[in-house]
Amino acid sequence: MNELGLTMGQAAYEHALRSNDAQEFELLDRKWIQLSGVLGGEYNYATGLFASALPYDGVRSMLEMGCGCGVASVIGALEGVPRVTALDINPAAVRTTQLNAERHGVADRVTARVSDLFAAVDDDAYDLIFWNSPFIQVPPDQLLDSDLAYHFFDPGYAMHERFFRGARRRLSPSGRLFLGFSFAMGSSDRLREVVTAAGFGVRVHVQESFGVSPEELGTSPVYADHAGDDARVHIDFTLLELTR
Ligand SMILES: C[S@@+](CC[C@H](N)C(=O)[O-])C[C@H]1O[C@@H](n2cnc3c(N)ncnc32)[C@H](O)[C@@H]1O
Repeated sequence: MNELGLTMGQAAYEHALRSNDAQEFELLDRKWIQLSGVLGGEYNYATGLFASALPYDGVRSMLEMGCGCGVASVIGALEGVPRVTALDINPAAVRTTQLNAERHGVADRVTARVSDLFAAVDDDAYDLIFWNSPFIQVPPDQLLDSDLAYHFFDPGYAMHERFFRGARRRLSPSGRLFLGFSFAMGSSDRLREVVTAAGFGVRVHVQESFGVSPEELGTSPVYADHAGDDARVHIDFTLLELTR
């Protein structure tokens, strides 16, 4: 497990539990609805980066796993993808995605459904499958005790493991698979294990990194322990392509 990721994830989760009112937020020059019980707003830097970097050209069908507020699904539809399936285990996320698809005029192309991974879809093939995943690995026996916990955490990376196996069966012959990840916060060794077990390779499609002072991150000594020679903690958001 990743000590920095666990510390950051736990702090962000506790903050989200305390302040999660409905709100409107701006991202990619558009205004988005966020219902209570789903995250977007202040966690949207990676959301915007990944949604704008996915290759939508020529894609006829897209599946967004864990759609949250539905940003990538809506952007995909606006970029011309005619059939977008948006799935989330959190009902508030699915409702938020439906509202955002209506707001941006693509409700006829985006179908949002409550689903534990691929449970609510059959074996249709998709040209593009994407998950901005809950990449903070926690112990295999840790319970996810609220809908918001699913935004951050994956016990033992068991959901990642199931996701890659399910995605493999549902990619069209030329279909492409992407994962929103962070090497600074996620568990890269465990990721490589589950990716390899599902028969994929990995390449970086897009990556952005920045340095933050430990004090900006919080009071935990873990932040200072992870600072580099420049006294800053280096955080990345990385869009990985899983290759066949
Ligand atoms: C890091 S958030 C990403 C949210 C949104 N796509 C974004 O980019 O802002 C991870 C999302 O995956 C969803 N999720 C976690 N486990 C899931 C599962 N087993 N099945 C479906 N969705 C899941 C969470 O509810 C959450 O919305």
